[in-house]
Amino acid sequence: MTGVKTERLDRLLSRLGYGSRSDVQAWLRQGLITVAGTPARSPSLKVSPDDVLIDGKPMDHPYGLTVIYHKPLDAVCSHRETGRLIYDDFPERWACRKPALSSVGRLDKETSGLLIVTDDGQLNHRITSPKHHISRTYVATLHAPLAGDEAEVFASGKLLLKDDDKPCLPAELTVIDETHVSIVLHEGRYHQVRRMFAAVGNHVTELTRSHIGALSLASTALAPGEYRSTTPDALLRLISGTTQV
Ligand code: URA
Repeated sequence: MTGVKTERLDRLLSRLGYGSRSDVQAWLRQGLITVAGTPARSPSLKVSPDDVLIDGKPMDHPYGLTVIYHKPLDAVCSHRETGRLIYDDFPERWACRKPALSSVGRLDKETSGLLIVTDDGQLNHRITSPKHHISRTYVATLHAPLAGDEAEVFASGKLLLKDDDKPCLPAELTVIDETHVSIVLHEGRYHQVRRMFAAVGNHVTELTRSHIGALSLASTALAPGEYRSTTPDALLRLISGTTQV
């Protein structure tokens, strides 16, 4: 590839989570790493990622990592908490990558659905920043039947949630039946859907994120816990609806 930056071999491998610099030294001694078809000997060799094979295999996403993921119930969007973490669904090596992977926004432990995980800070900001107007759609099951005025209250732009100092942006509610709805949000506040229904005297018993922009979970055909890698450009096209999965 032309124009690709070169990097020290040991730094590249440790940054991609393959092992420590001393692990790399050992693999070099064993002749496990080739660069442009020749066994490499020196950890300080400047390489371009495309030229490197480890045990005959190309490196794992050397130019950055972005995945579309179906977050299962009970997995936590955190690197640190105890219990099941979303990162447990990915290869162990990914936990050691630099820059680190992080989720684009968060879904609660009890919420399933579409989640993007990336090591690309600019992409993360592009999707989360309200400036870019990327909506999120959720499907919720409610404890009590709808009262009838929820769509109006949510669309009003006047709903003030407990502990917030600004009202919610207008949100669109679609009634599926008296205890099932879909709701489109244009911002991402903590536990927002649950808190919006709590504010109108109801309780969300099940919650799934079905869409980020135009990208639907259904179109990905991913089962809970499954993921697919993509590129920032391809992802942004899916989210804007200019291409389909
Ligand atoms: N709203 C919620 O209440 N929870 C989520 O995880 C996302 C939106």
